[in-house]
Amino acid sequence: MQIRILVVDDELSLCKTLEIILKKEGYGVVTTQLGVTALSLIYEQDFNVIFTDLNLPDISGLEIITEAKRRIPSPQVILITAFASIETAVDAIKRGAYDYLTKPLSPDKVRVTTKRAIEKLTLTEQVDHLRQEVSQCFGFDNMVGKSQCMYELRKTILYAAKSAGSVVITGESGTGKELVARAIHYNSNRKENSFVPVNCAAIAKELIESELFGYVRGAFTGALRDKVGFIELSSGGSLFLDEIGETTPDFQVKLLRVIQNGEFNRVGESSYRKVDARYIAATNKDLKKAIADASFREDLYYRLNVINIHLPPLRQRREDIPLLAVHFINKYRQKYPDKNVTDLTPEAAEALINHDFPGNVRELENAIEHALVFGHGDKVTVDTLPATFRDRRDMATTAVPNAGPKVSLKPLKMAKYEFERGFIIEALKENECNISKAARLLDIHRQNLQLKIKEFDIDVDSLKQEKS
Ligand SMILES: Nc1ncnc2c1ncn2[C@@H]1O[C@H](COP(=O)(O)OP(=O)(O)OP(=O)(O)O)[C@@H](O)[C@H]1O
Ligand SMILES: [Mg+2]
Repeated sequence: MQIRILVVDDELSLCKTLEIILKKEGYGVVTTQLGVTALSLIYEQDFNVIFTDLNLPDISGLEIITEAKRRIPSPQVILITAFASIETAVDAIKRGAYDYLTKPLSPDKVRVTTKRAIEKLTLTEQVDHLRQEVSQCFGFDNMVGKSQCMYELRKTILYAAKSAGSVVITGESGTGKELVARAIHYNSNRKENSFVPVNCAAIAKELIESELFGYVRGAFTGALRDKVGFIELSSGGSLFLDEIGETTPDFQVKLLRVIQNGEFNRVGESSYRKVDARYIAATNKDLKKAIADASFREDLYYRLNVINIHLPPLRQRREDIPLLAVHFINKYRQKYPDKNVTDLTPEAAEALINHDFPGNVRELENAIEHALVFGHGDKVTVDTLPATFRDRRDMATTAVPNAGPKVSLKPLKMAKYEFERGFIIEALKENECNISKAARLLDIHRQNLQLKIKEFDIDVDSLKQEKS
């Protein structure tokens, strides 16, 4: 990737001198004599290094530093100053400038300072990158769960991390597919290099190729400069193709070729580039079905699916729910430090355990964040959980009158209870509340039906009145 340098100085001769020195070193150079132009250039384009005069005619060089620091990643700013203003230069360094050079400029000094600034830049980028990744923590500590399948999952992740094979992770939305993908990368020998997540569903179909493979300037209208694609960024590291099931077969052919040959070309470029990436794909689609209806290429499927990891929905591993809940309480307590929540009430825990979580772990996470935002005490209570959890409790206490202690909060039990009660009422109504007839229809003993009528607190007399 070519290093791009911006030179800002009202002295045209100085701009030219710097341009010549820096271009000789192979850097791309843009110059301007106006501060405001510099500000818009910094805003619109990516520069790695900026040389700026401290005293520009229209604005102060300090504003250039401020604008540069707003960019992520920020370019390194090197100030050019007359000897007299060294104090200001020192001040500028305190504000984040990398270094300063005094006039007249020595070409050697320019070369050395630029080189160091670039080295520092790469280092800073790497450290920032690492810090960011580590702060999101992808070790096993952050993968919570004590169920048998979580135990198996950890073993599979370690196995996948040690091997070089491609991986397909399947599972419903919110089950932790991305978390697993990261855990594989960060436990593999590629962990020093990038983990590059690409959400295939979020990129327009006509753009996915240029986003993934990159493009060269002029490849299409709007391709104003070369662009590195995600595949190239992931070289040495891992490429995470999320929602792979959303891609088109046309694109899948191209992807297959990169995976097989380790070669690709940027859009608009004829020569091939090499790439050494580890491919991890995820989907909540049934790829076998997609193959059957020709929306997913079978060859790509077999090439990717060397290691398959399936994440079961949360409702199939309910024993993980309380652990996950506490894990998220701890997580969100850091986000909301004024909250003192440390635990759940038994009722809240029960409401969570009994919930079916169509949104899986993400839904649980959101529920806990909701509870922290809306709660004030030291425990997550049912009242602080989102409405879906509260409604369930309301149903348990109000929708089933006289349920008494026989009905627990368990939805299945409750559903069965409601269903059976309703069914018996229907059978009685059908048979003019004649218990023997209704029992025959239901294929149970008369006494048995009588017991149920008692148990379900069905008022046969009022049913009769309803009828007449
Ligand atoms: N076992 C787990 N332990 C701790 N946190 C988890 C676990 N599983 C999932 N999470 C958290 O749940 C959230 C959703 O996980 P993730 O984004 O990995 O799901 P996903 O399967 O990729 O979902 P989608 O299909 O919607 O993209 C994340 O914040 C993740 O950290
Ligand atoms: Mg995901």
